Amino acid sequence: MGNCRIISFIVFLFTILQFSYLIDVQGGGLDTEPVVFCYYGSWATYRPGIAQFDVEHINASLCTHIIYTFMGLKDGVIVSLDEYNDYEENWGKGSLRRFANFAKTNGLRAILAIGGWNEGSVKYSEMAESEVGRSTFADSVVTFVKKYNFDGLDLDWEYPTQRGGTHEDKENFSLLLEVLSDKLHAEGLLLTVAVCADPDIAKEGYDFQKVGQYADYISLMSFDYHTATSDNVTALNSALHKLPGETGDDATLNVEYSVNQWLNGGIPAKKLLVGIPLYGRTYILADGQNHGLGASIIANGTAGPYTREPGFLSYYEICMVKEWNVVTDGAQGYLYAYYDDNWVSYDDVNTVTAKAQFIRDKGLAGIMAWALESEDFCNNCGEGANPLLTAANKVLGRL
Ligand SMILES: *[C@@H]1O[C@H](CO)[C@@H](O)[C@H](O)[C@H]1NC(C)=O
Ligand SMILES: *[C@@H]1O[C@H](CO)[C@@H](O)[C@H](O)[C@H]1NC(C)=O
Ligand SMILES: *[C@@H]1O[C@H](CO)[C@@H](O)[C@H](O)[C@H]1NC(C)=O
Ligand SMILES: *[C@@H]1O[C@H](CO)[C@@H](O)[C@H](O)[C@H]1NC(C)=O
Repeated sequence: MGNCRIISFIVFLFTILQFSYLIDVQGGGLDTEPVVFCYYGSWATYRPGIAQFDVEHINASLCTHIIYTFMGLKDGVIVSLDEYNDYEENWGKGSLRRFANFAKTNGLRAILAIGGWNEGSVKYSEMAESEVGRSTFADSVVTFVKKYNFDGLDLDWEYPTQRGGTHEDKENFSLLLEVLSDKLHAEGLLLTVAVCADPDIAKEGYDFQKVGQYADYISLMSFDYHTATSDNVTALNSALHKLPGETGDDATLNVEYSVNQWLNGGIPAKKLLVGIPLYGRTYILADGQNHGLGASIIANGTAGPYTREPGFLSYYEICMVKEWNVVTDGAQGYLYAYYDDNWVSYDDVNTVTAKAQFIRDKGLAGIMAWALESEDFCNNCGEGANPLLTAANKVLGRL
């Protein structure tokens, strides 16, 4: 715990020193060892107190790849969305360079992610609709990734055919992956892609076989299956299996279903990474006495003191609150918790362990975790630092 807090001070010193390592260990190729993709939300550098998370807070032994989020798309090319944090040139925080250096120093791969929810879909749809648009974008990516000494790109278009996208996005997305694959692989760089886990959206948006052909890894965003935006009753954020009573669409909104959908679609199992949320989805109950699954809700849960987003709590914001009544069902691999009119669905050490066992037993590539800054990285809850990532890595035989 002491180590963790002192990192903020060390980061400060490093920022002043503007230290630069110039070691180059790039190259493509598919690992056969289990893979752990750790996503990093770079905006966590601005969080207050114990929540502040900088590049140097990453525990390198818990990840094989670290993914820096997010770059954006402007005028058809990749750009920084936060130049002060990403760049340096003597005035910024130099986070991109520090991230790449951290990866090189620790033998990890650094991947640069573009997109995310806030970027929307329309710009991506427009960029992908012509050959010259796709090719210009891919050239800008290669230049950017090499300039900052990263090992590859993670494409996080949320989502082809959705949110203002067009029906043609499905085909154009594959063509975009093809040119990105050509240009990145020619430079020994990786191409990875984060995909929507909702089975209807997945069917509409992706040509599974092509995604499996061009991407080195596919990160299944197997969470947010249920939120206070999509549902008006309590339900699980990221259930491993379908629940006994579930039928119809409800029976498809779980990790197992999504994994089988992609495998049946013809992608190589050794390219599939299963998303594990290091956070919970929260609700306000209509009636605090009615707190089971399927209970009526009236709003998103209250924003957390550090993450400040209604409907969302980081794992440490959940585990630091001792009032929660936790309801577990080990066999189904889920849990939820409530107190007063607050309700949350999240993952703990047991559900993460169950998911990692599932991933291992299915012979999949490994896990992707969203996201490092939501873990209990400072051991605020007494389970040790990074308890969820530690549990997952143990099951995968990495610790
Ligand atoms: C890509 O999408 C556009 C419409 O969005 C379409 O006109 C075009 O034919 C698609 N396919 C190719 C190969 O560009
Ligand atoms: C909300 O609940 C009503 C019934 O109480 C139902 O008809 C409606 O479909 C629900 N909406 C969603 C988004 O689940
Ligand atoms: C939760 O927040 C989202 C995003 O702000 C909003 O669209 C949604 O309607 C909210 N849900 C409820 C039940 O208030
Ligand atoms: C990284 O995590 C592992 C597993 O939890 C732990 O044993 C190790 O001490 C951590 N390393 C640092 C530098 O905190």
